[in-house]
Amino acid sequence: MSISFEGKVAIVTGAGGGLGKSHALELARRGAKIVVNDLGGSMDGSGGSSDAALAVVEEIKALGGEAIANGGSVSDRAGAKSMVDDAVKHFGTVHILINNAGILRDKSFSKMTLDDYKIVMDVHIDGSVNVAKYCWEIMKKQNYGRILMTTSGSGLFGNFGQTNYSTAKMAMVGFMNTVQLEGKKYNVRTNCLAPAALTRMTENLLPGEIAESLPPELVTAGALYMVTEDAPNGVILQAQGGSFGVAAMMQNEKINLGDKATVDDVADHWAEISDMSNAFQRKPGDGLVLNKP
Ligand SMILES: NC(=O)c1ccc[n+]([C@@H]2O[C@H](COP(=O)([O-])OP(=O)(O)OC[C@H]3O[C@@H](n4cnc5c(N)ncnc54)[C@H](O)[C@@H]3O)[C@@H](O)[C@H]2O)c1
Repeated sequence: MSISFEGKVAIVTGAGGGLGKSHALELARRGAKIVVNDLGGSMDGSGGSSDAALAVVEEIKALGGEAIANGGSVSDRAGAKSMVDDAVKHFGTVHILINNAGILRDKSFSKMTLDDYKIVMDVHIDGSVNVAKYCWEIMKKQNYGRILMTTSGSGLFGNFGQTNYSTAKMAMVGFMNTVQLEGKKYNVRTNCLAPAALTRMTENLLPGEIAESLPPELVTAGALYMVTEDAPNGVILQAQGGSFGVAAMMQNEKINLGDKATVDDVADHWAEISDMSNAFQRKPGDGLVLNKP
């Protein structure tokens, strides 16, 4: 099978380097027209220039592909809107959005300022929602849309020193869980990607021999599947170094302690209440079901 994105228009945010660049190049190689967005700032979110996005556009053009650069910030509403406007103006519409832009302000919760928290939330979750919101009606109207949110193992499972980042990354899952339901009847599918790859974001974190086994291109293989016509809906894909798998929410069977349950009853039954040996997967959309569906 050779998957083609011929005739598709994609926006990839934060595509001036790292994973986003890899996603944009492969989409372009496979025929998509691309809006290459990147603010071009430093890893902590300061500064900015459209040089990074322009360089990727040149690479795509050298491959015979079509792309335009956008230097807006996802966290700025006007910037987010400009990406969608550029897609419509230059290529007629948008079919695919890969929300990839990101920054880090790693510090323990004690040392993290509320500004460190806010800027990370602004870029990751607010930025992703901003661009998705401006794409949404277009995708619904054309009965086709694929949105990929970039989450992280840090959000799904936690990582010391990343409270701000973990919070933002888990919010991607919350957004997906509901929007995938609302998009279903319009053929707008939303998924999450939890990647691990050697990029400027991880070059000081990953030991050498592991880092070499984690090229961004091996994450891109999974990322691109999640925006194909056959993509699933509401799935978290984990991808790193050629290994792929999914992550999901689990719950156990609740124990009914009756209508007079007290804190003492909960304490007395804690071993049963917290026993996950009978756990089952909760699918997005099961949100209001009280117990096992
Ligand atoms: N590399 C990993 O192992 C890893 C693991 C988990 C999650 N992620 C996530 O993958 C995504 C890509 O990260 P990466 O590793 O390629 O890092 P990266 O730093 O190479 O890429 C992030 C890009 O986003 C751009 N950007 C930052 N703020 C922006 C804004 N406001 N508007 C537009 N662009 C902006 C940056 O300029 C940069 O080019 C991020 O969301 C990151 O959190 C990466």
